[in-house]
Amino acid sequence: MASSRPLVPPTRIDFTPEDQEWIAQRIKEVLASGRLTLGAFGEQFEREFAALTGAKHAIAVNSGTASLEIMLRAMDVAGKDVLVPANTFFATASAVIGAGGRPVLMDTDVATLSTSLAEIERRITPATAGIMIVHIAGIITAEMPAIAAYAKSKGIWLMEDAAHAQGATLDGKHAGTFGLAGSFSFYPTKVMTSAEGGMIVTDDDRMLEEAHIYRDQGKASFLQNTHIRMGYNWRMSEPHAVIGLRHLQGFAGLLAGRRKIARIYDAALTGENGLRPIATPKGCAPNYYKYVVMLPDGCDRARLKGWLKEHHNVHCSGEVYEVPLHRNEVLKHLDPGDLTGAETACGRQLCLPIFASMTEAQGHQVVEALTDAKTKGVL
Ligand SMILES: Cc1ncc(COP(=O)(O)O)c(C=O)c1O
Repeated sequence: MASSRPLVPPTRIDFTPEDQEWIAQRIKEVLASGRLTLGAFGEQFEREFAALTGAKHAIAVNSGTASLEIMLRAMDVAGKDVLVPANTFFATASAVIGAGGRPVLMDTDVATLSTSLAEIERRITPATAGIMIVHIAGIITAEMPAIAAYAKSKGIWLMEDAAHAQGATLDGKHAGTFGLAGSFSFYPTKVMTSAEGGMIVTDDDRMLEEAHIYRDQGKASFLQNTHIRMGYNWRMSEPHAVIGLRHLQGFAGLLAGRRKIARIYDAALTGENGLRPIATPKGCAPNYYKYVVMLPDGCDRARLKGWLKEHHNVHCSGEVYEVPLHRNEVLKHLDPGDLTGAETACGRQLCLPIFASMTEAQGHQVVEALTDAKTKGVL
């Protein structure tokens, strides 16, 4: 029998009626102006996102996949190796392949869901052009400064796939700013969204210049039809920029909403319920894109998720990620062997419901559901 308890959805995309009104008004202005892409709202979105991260430049594009591929093309990875984590979204690796490079998979530090410096040292070869670090779930490993220093000492670049990490910081430094450039996604499930969209942040003037060229079909300039790079249509439209701008302007509230729920989970999940939250690395302020817990040995994740839904109306989201990259049919040829940390991180995690407008009552309902699951032997 289905639970009669109130619904706790896995996530929610929050646009208040005021947000909707604000967006509609500006999209009308865009339509009236006739400047529907690469216009003033896009530029404002770039300026304000750069300010959020502390980066010198931001370049808006039409997806987080686009921002990754542009950064990689700008660094000319064709024919070169790029270190990427096995525990990440498909696009982290597919963008390397799109740019003509070869992704070399790295194992996962289960404690942070990220890559350790030791693992980078193990996988680096003379063919390595650079390192892509991914801040899974919006958590930044405390090793980031050491990883940046190591990349520098080896004369290779460090870039970040910060798709999950808007607003996440380590010792006050924003995700995406530890290396040469950082890539963000504004896909609807993210902490802030522009419906579809992405952003590159960088302090590097050459990266800015290259990104402008690549995102607009590789053209020498907006008004010129001569193509000097193998670019693509990676432009962000003005309506998308307007939507992103609204979420960005209310970003502190979006972040605070998630952090309030994370505090409830942190206080309640102390180990007795069999669950172990990913501990926040020292100095890190995560954005709680996901709240990840590790399940005890032998726990059947699918059964637990079904039980929480049926008995408590608590719906957990998909994992980040259910399987590592090399377990996907099209990427299995990338398996370098010995990715046991990634297998464990993917196989044992559970993502609890979390979103900006989630109420404290919903947070407590999730905790009660987990406690009941423990009592009933489902956990
Ligand atoms: C880690 C990671 N990288 C890249 C992407 C690609 O972003 P998008 O969906 O905006 O292309 C995503 C997202 O969805 C992601 O989670």
